[in-house]
Amino acid sequence: MPRHVILGVGAGISAYKSCELLRRLTESGCDVRVIPTSDALRFVGEATWAALSGRSATPDLWADVHDVPHVNLGKWADLVFIAPATADLLARAAAGRGDDLLTATLLMARCPVVFAPAMHTEMWEHPATQANVTLLRDRGVLVLEPATGRLTGPDTGAGRLPEPAELAEVAFRVLDRGTDGLRLDLLGRRVVVSAGGTREELDPVRFLGNWSSGMQGYALARTAVARGADVTLVSANVALDDPAGAKVIRVVSAIQLREAMVSSCAGADAVVMAAAVADFRPAVRNKSKIKKTGTGPEPIRLTENPDVLRELSTRRGHRGQIVVGFGAETEDLLGNGRAKLARKGCDLLVVNQVGSGLAFGTSENEALVLASDGSVTHVPRSRKEALADVVWDLVAARFS
Ligand code: CTP
Repeated sequence: MPRHVILGVGAGISAYKSCELLRRLTESGCDVRVIPTSDALRFVGEATWAALSGRSATPDLWADVHDVPHVNLGKWADLVFIAPATADLLARAAAGRGDDLLTATLLMARCPVVFAPAMHTEMWEHPATQANVTLLRDRGVLVLEPATGRLTGPDTGAGRLPEPAELAEVAFRVLDRGTDGLRLDLLGRRVVVSAGGTREELDPVRFLGNWSSGMQGYALARTAVARGADVTLVSANVALDDPAGAKVIRVVSAIQLREAMVSSCAGADAVVMAAAVADFRPAVRNKSKIKKTGTGPEPIRLTENPDVLRELSTRRGHRGQIVVGFGAETEDLLGNGRAKLARKGCDLLVVNQVGSGLAFGTSENEALVLASDGSVTHVPRSRKEALADVVWDLVAARFS
């Protein structure tokens, strides 16, 4: 059964990015019906939406009245995804207006609804827009934070539409949750996730690093966004697009990662340390490139890095904050995992086996999630997003 998606398009310049979003949704097997606003057609014409979706794409509430389109479309949809959502569209949705096909359909829809706002920073930060966003979120609508970066002109700031591939990921995550997609169980929760692998510089051209791709941490960020959380992602050397809706802080070394985590974690409800943090760094960073001397290589002296997970577990940034760690092991997952959980002092430890095609650089993972109360949850080999959802289920259970 194809999944039915309504793609609402507001009158923003980034409407062109929604053509790519539409493409990704249809290529993944979704049946998509595009409903642009009439002004959105000034940016991308009806013919483009109709040709890419294989369906009519009128903004007109009064077209095909005999079919009562807003009623039928509202009942047909498994997901309504609006990208870009302009300040005006957010205001009309918040006010419950139904003066075009898109807003009337929104009033009919009982499925999950996602807004991806895009506008100038001033419009996004305006109290009127923020009040509308709060109202929509309180009603169970998922309103994504816009990305920060280049806007229409030469200016930069918060208000950019996230990349289409990442918007599609949000749509898939919400669709995968089925009717649970309506339950934003992390709404109002602030979570911090670390991802990737730290690099410890030897000299201006070399570093000690590890194979972490950041995929598990990014999956955690994406799934938390889809469940309504306010997500900060501390990303160490990851070559992936920023997850839509997450605030991304980039770091390189373990020391930088620690600083970013300690300052982001104050007041956070949950912290997940998915990053592979180097245990050691070179004791000395050479200011210039280390040269061959002809007498063989000099040994590299190492010094220990701070254990960020242990520090965050011991000095919680907030009463009741839930701390989750990861442990990569090559053998005796349960034994080594339990010892690591106790040593780190966290609430949950996700233990995964490294090697045999699992964990590093793959889209799948298999793990045991050990809890400080002694419970063990086995997550069979599955997409990293599925493991991420189990982690958030266990975190959400601890909140309540
Ligand atoms: N970690 C950390 N700071 C470090 C090393 C690790 O915060 N300096 C965190 C990782 O982010 C992960 C957890 O600790 O959540 C476990 O990492 P792992 O490398 O498996 O544990 P180690 O303490 O290094 O134990 P060992 O290498 O002895 O297995």
